[in-house]
Amino acid sequence: MERVISGIRPTGNLHLGNYFGAVKSFVKMQDEYDCMFFIADWHSLTTHPTPENIRNSVKTILSEYLACGIDPQKAPIYVQSDVKQVLELYLYLNMNAYLGELERVTSFKEKVRKQPDNVNAGLLTYPCLMAADILMHKADKVPVGKDQEQNMEMARLFARRFNRIYQVEYFKEPQSFHFADKAVKVPGLDGTGKMGKSEGNCLYLCDDEKTVTKKIMRAVTDQGPTQLNQEKPEVIQNLFTLCELLSGKEAADYYNDLYNNMTIRYGDMKKQMAADANTLLAPIRERILAYSSDDALLDKIMRQGAEAAAARAEKTIEEVREIIGFRKV
Ligand code: ADP
Ligand code: TRP
Repeated sequence: MERVISGIRPTGNLHLGNYFGAVKSFVKMQDEYDCMFFIADWHSLTTHPTPENIRNSVKTILSEYLACGIDPQKAPIYVQSDVKQVLELYLYLNMNAYLGELERVTSFKEKVRKQPDNVNAGLLTYPCLMAADILMHKADKVPVGKDQEQNMEMARLFARRFNRIYQVEYFKEPQSFHFADKAVKVPGLDGTGKMGKSEGNCLYLCDDEKTVTKKIMRAVTDQGPTQLNQEKPEVIQNLFTLCELLSGKEAADYYNDLYNNMTIRYGDMKKQMAADANTLLAPIRERILAYSSDDALLDKIMRQGAEAAAARAEKTIEEVREIIGFRKV
């Protein structure tokens, strides 16, 4: 059976971008593939969280994963830092990763621009750690949103390079996986391109009904079309993308016709989107509350997940050590 791995950094609550871009695919894939999912807490250290932040975010994101429908009986969920073998592979990959190519990664360049006071080496080698997460499990498929494409290319590059250097056919090249025909990019509620924690334009899975409605009703729009069949400006296109995700293609087509004949009222469209968002989120929200108050269950799930992941990881590390020329330990 094909193997699937994916992780999300625990840096706050999950939002609709995470849901449609990643977690929804996880839930579908667990029935068809040999899946494992993890919480990328080492990756989150690039932004220097406090111990309290880490503990809370790991618990939060685990509750949210479970609430979305990931079933640990089908797909183990583990915390990255519980599986120390990943670090050893990270080190080996670092030795074959070059400064120039790491510096050219768009998300690294963005971080340099956004946080010039904290351009740490972990940020630079982020793609190496991500590749270690993936190659460790010899994953065939990795469900991620569009923004992770470059990191995925790096993972494939490192796999090929390792094989070439050691003259082996050991690592396979992992493919990005999207349930829709193309990668989903969920736009933000502020009309900008991408919903993201750091952009402050998110609808969170744990937002209560009132908040959901308020946020959607306030989503940025324009004055409305001024010509028949006019091309949509980016903010409006983004609202339609969100509408299709929340309310379905039929609803989006309906409002598209109204847009084209200039009778659209954004308020009506948003009302429907808010109602559909609440239908989607209400049961998820309830389950988040239930899971997050059951520490014993969360602990058990993390322990079992770590055992499953470590067993696989240990095998890979033994083989990699042998390929590189290190002694068996
Ligand atoms: P954020 O940008 O809010 O920090 P992350 O970078 O932690 O979110 O993303 C975790 C996962 O969710 C990744 O697989 C990413 O591709 C996906 N994701 C995040 N935001 C979006 C979005 N707006 N559209 C589609 N997928 C997204
Ligand atoms: N870089 C991913 C993100 O920001 C998180 C991540 C870390 C990941 N390791 C991974 C995703 C391995 C998929 C596979 O969203």
